[in-house]
Amino acid sequence: MSSPAPVFAWTDAFKLGYERMDETHRDFVLKVNALLVAEDASLLARLDDFVAHAEAHFGEEAQWMTATDFPAAQCHIDEHDAVMKSVLEVRGRLAAQPDAKYFAITRSLAQELMRWFPGHADYLDSALSHWMVKRVYGGAPIVFRRS
Ligand SMILES: [Fe+2]
Ligand SMILES: [Fe+2]
Repeated sequence: MSSPAPVFAWTDAFKLGYERMDETHRDFVLKVNALLVAEDASLLARLDDFVAHAEAHFGEEAQWMTATDFPAAQCHIDEHDAVMKSVLEVRGRLAAQPDAKYFAITRSLAQELMRWFPGHADYLDSALSHWMVKRVYGGAPIVFRRS
């Protein structure tokens, strides 16, 4: 069986220039896409994969911000926390009641994550990416995107 075409696909427009973050963001796109295309029976497992990803992803960014005294870290961390709160709430409900209602709610959550990511990346992650590149390489990132 061939895997379904991605609904949410990585594009180089998402690249921010700090390679470690870009790698994590590629994985974010893969995990959200896996949730979007999952069959009912595997939705909970794919959501658990996403939870594990998100905990590591948001934890890593928070750790970079704390370790480097990034200004205005709190607003970035608050946005991650709001996302995790919704994700964990849906996860708990889906696990308790794996029926059509919560399959639909889980798919809405996945849609919402796909909608949320570009703005978050552009606005908050890009500032952190610039900051980290300056710390690590002493200059602003130069991003090469395929046209
Ligand atoms: Fe991120
Ligand atoms: Fe972030």
